Amino acid sequence: MIERQLWHPVVAAMHLRDEPVAVTLLGQDVVLWREHGHDGHAGVVHAWADRCPHRGARLSLGRVLHHLHGARLECPYHGWQFAGDTAATQGHHGAPVPVGRCVHVPAAPTFEPPPAHCAQVFDAQEHHGLVWVRLERPDLTQVPASLAQPPGFEPWQDPLWRQLICGPYEVQTSAPRLVENFLDLSHFGFVHEGWLGARTHAQVDTGKVDEGAEGVRAHECKAWQPKGYAGAEEGGWVVYRYDVPHPFAAILRKDATEGDPVSNAIALFIRPDGDDRCTAWFAMATLGDLSDDEELRAFQDTVFAQDRPVVESQQPKRLPLGKDGPIAEVHGPADRMSSAYRRYLVRTGISLGVC
Ligand code: FES
Ligand code: CO
Repeated sequence: MIERQLWHPVVAAMHLRDEPVAVTLLGQDVVLWREHGHDGHAGVVHAWADRCPHRGARLSLGRVLHHLHGARLECPYHGWQFAGDTAATQGHHGAPVPVGRCVHVPAAPTFEPPPAHCAQVFDAQEHHGLVWVRLERPDLTQVPASLAQPPGFEPWQDPLWRQLICGPYEVQTSAPRLVENFLDLSHFGFVHEGWLGARTHAQVDTGKVDEGAEGVRAHECKAWQPKGYAGAEEGGWVVYRYDVPHPFAAILRKDATEGDPVSNAIALFIRPDGDDRCTAWFAMATLGDLSDDEELRAFQDTVFAQDRPVVESQQPKRLPLGKDGPIAEVHGPADRMSSAYRRYLVRTGISLGVC
């Protein structure tokens, strides 16, 4: 399964603090935990299989310890302690141990656990305000180099822009269905009437769509919106750019124009929990928007609440890629981005959330 070799967002970085957090990624139960930071910096994050190698209890029910020899995760059942990055030593000899190794068995304090007494450890890193995890190292003959890292999102690093995370939104559908919804301009006038569109102005222009190994790009996409720009009294046409740099991520950008001083970039990042459920965040970056963070979040929450019942109603929950058969879907001229996205999933060899 190729998606095990890709980075996926698993939790907002700000929501991973002193307590372990349990998530499901691609059907795998994962425990996330964070070491204590120093000097105002957040500590290192860890992602392990959420299963103690001793008797299979959930490590996420345990707690994070800050021991003399570094950070450890303690199992809730028999209190075995497993080493974090800075728990570099074990037992009385002070030998270095790898991350995930059991370093203390309270019922037998002089026992030195052998290498097999180890949690299953995954790669983890922080990026764009989220923690990202991959379950396997990539085979670069199968995975494009552009997917060896989490997708780029430059406005997140720009000190002139304001950044915030919206979500998590837990959704009972597949990650590909949610990406397609994000790329779809022609639902604005119906699902988001009065907010992002109007049924009296339902026509859209899908612009120019480019497809390559690195994903899908579309520019000059136009939709009519009831407020053409922040502070506008009247509706107007808005021009967007879309970028799909990862099978389960999409970025929308709207640049400031003469009459509209606001630039926005919104990245949809999705954790594929399983074939028919996922968890999403929006990483938003904005320049020139005068509303505060809570107002921006409330707007995104409202728009998402409008999308939710419709995307959760779509059958099948997995995206049908087949051209024939009982679950084939038909396409209209405004679905060019969706068709390009489906071809990208086929090219990348994605099997999760598609049929
Ligand atoms: Fe984890 Fe026994 S099951 S310590
Ligand atoms: Co929508």
